Amino acid sequence: MNTAHEAPHIPVLLEEIVGYLTPRVGGRYLDGTLGLAGHSLGLLRASGGQAELVGLDRDEQALELARERLSEFPGRAQTFHLAFSDFEQALAEAGWDKLDGAVLDLGVSSLQLDEAERGFSFMADGPLDMRMDATSGQDTARTLVNRAHFEELKHIIRDLGDEPLGGKIARAIVRIREQEEIRTTARLAEIVAKAYPPDRRREARNHPATRTFMALRMAVNNEIGEIKEFLERIVPYLNPGARLAVISFHSAEDREVKEAFRLWAKGCRCPHTQQICTCDRTPLARILTKKPQLPTQLEMDRNPRSRSAKLRVAERLGPDGRPAGEVAP
Ligand SMILES: C[S@@+](CC[C@H](N)C(=O)[O-])C[C@H]1O[C@@H](n2cnc3c(N)ncnc32)[C@H](O)[C@@H]1O
Repeated sequence: MNTAHEAPHIPVLLEEIVGYLTPRVGGRYLDGTLGLAGHSLGLLRASGGQAELVGLDRDEQALELARERLSEFPGRAQTFHLAFSDFEQALAEAGWDKLDGAVLDLGVSSLQLDEAERGFSFMADGPLDMRMDATSGQDTARTLVNRAHFEELKHIIRDLGDEPLGGKIARAIVRIREQEEIRTTARLAEIVAKAYPPDRRREARNHPATRTFMALRMAVNNEIGEIKEFLERIVPYLNPGARLAVISFHSAEDREVKEAFRLWAKGCRCPHTQQICTCDRTPLARILTKKPQLPTQLEMDRNPRSRSAKLRVAERLGPDGRPAGEVAP
């Protein structure tokens, strides 16, 4: 059993996040995916305990541990049991209207993956749940797997999981569930593994159920919808110079982030056939990571979970579309 101060989750790209956000005395920062507070603690420590933080997590259990760990900085962090798409509610309750920086570290934590009861992992048998917020009325993975139409299951597994065998796996699930309800992670993992042709099973680097489990988790928790909603509304809350850093572990999430940053940086939205700009929109942000930043080999060796991480960072520009503090020529 881990104690509160021994984190069972190693924060990914921590130095990079702290470096980009450069937390300052009195600065206000949002951590939308508090988890075990690894990034939040890094930000507070780097400010000498003088920054302020609002931290959100959908997972009560993670929040409880995060609160204990954040007690290192009494009065500096306010935490909320909320999805990050509800960040406005948290800011209103904290009495904040602007931020000096924000971070999202998407996906699940090692703590969630390691607990069989949460049903995220095929490595240990547990009920097919996968809800990050176990107190919510959201459908569980068990409901999805046993009730969704074949086409929906296929779409989830193939498109969210980047699983080329999505159709075959969905068909196997539908065939089995006609005879028995699929209730556990081990049973589902077995069904998926059997749907894999033996040569593909042998060649696969990961367990054949890896992509299917990730896809179901993303669907159960509406993970793409969450990131879209957040990115649609966050910009007005960022002070000029404030940076938003997003770590994603999935190509569909990374695509959402890349696309949103590109639109913010573009400014003008006139059709490209038009030679003179008439929309007069100034860019909202500049992109600080032209290509996503990846963990170093050393980090990947120390923390294999970081292997698929991609970090993108954007900085809010001033009202004239220039970086904060830069004077017009
Ligand atoms: C990868 S972990 C974050 C780890 C954290 N950065 C750390 O270093 O300890 C992701 C966390 O975000 C939470 N989470 C994922 N999606 C969320 C959402 N839409 N709203 C709020 N929390 C979310 C998960 O419950 C999990 O605890």
